[in-house]
Amino acid sequence: MSEDLKGKVALITGANKGIGYEIARQLGSRGATVLVGARDIRRGEEAADKLRFSEIHARTIQLDVSDQKTIDSAAKQIESEFGKLDILVNNAGIISDGDRLPPSQVDIETLRHTYETNVFGVFAVTKALLPLLKKSKAGRIVNLSSSLGSLTQNSDPNYEFADFKLLAYNSSKTAVNAITVLLAAELKDTPIKINAADPGFTATDINQYQGYRTVEQGAIAAVRLATLPDDGSSGGFFDENGVVPW
Ligand SMILES: NC(=O)c1ccc[n+]([C@@H]2O[C@H](COP(=O)([O-])OP(=O)(O)OC[C@H]3O[C@@H](n4cnc5c(N)ncnc54)[C@H](OP(=O)(O)O)[C@@H]3O)[C@@H](O)[C@H]2O)c1
Repeated sequence: MSEDLKGKVALITGANKGIGYEIARQLGSRGATVLVGARDIRRGEEAADKLRFSEIHARTIQLDVSDQKTIDSAAKQIESEFGKLDILVNNAGIISDGDRLPPSQVDIETLRHTYETNVFGVFAVTKALLPLLKKSKAGRIVNLSSSLGSLTQNSDPNYEFADFKLLAYNSSKTAVNAITVLLAAELKDTPIKINAADPGFTATDINQYQGYRTVEQGAIAAVRLATLPDDGSSGGFFDENGVVPW
């Protein structure tokens, strides 16, 4: 097992399954202590048990990104146990059932529900953990976005996923991209780097396993951004092949 991330503490939201679990596994297998964020503590413990079985230092943190109380208590717990956070991966995300309609027919509640997790959750978790990321020598924040959030791609009729016009989900990821750029500008004179990652169409529960990429492939961009060197970029949007257009 490589040890290049030894001493680093990484929190991954929604890490009990899917791409988040795989990001935790890859960071943990390089020596990081991984905090498995899970809204359901039992599902989180099962995932952490599996990671520990592979000799990864894994702990569970109960964290529902749409519940400020759990966010605040997670931040307190990390502060008292580690005094810092090196890597935050805002991975938790949803597609609401009501989003599978033509954009004009989507219910406002579907939009609110999706934004609670995908947008407000990302901001609330980042805001609560920023003081601990500032205590790291090289804080890294990765926001799981999607090419479905790219305005350029959504405007292109030849885009591979041109038929996937999910009003709430796609626009929530556009908002995540905007949050990424705005925070990067604010943090430009700090060691912290914040970027958005597109995992590509990956087989997980979120798409009923229709994705054609494996979670190992889906985690590549996020893990790369979570471990950027000091001269790495900030405020960008990347998949594993490079820059994704906004
Ligand atoms: N799969 C793809 O093709 C794809 C493509 C582009 C972007 N993404 C993004 O990648 C990220 C991970 O998705 P995935 O494909 O791995 O989906 P997934 O298998 O459905 O996993 C989603 C994770 O988010 C958690 N979650 C949902 N709402 C939460 C909340 N309020 N608080 C805390 N955790 C919550 C889920 O927990 P529970 O188990 O408790 O539900 C689960 O652990 C998402 O942000 C997604 O938008 C995925």
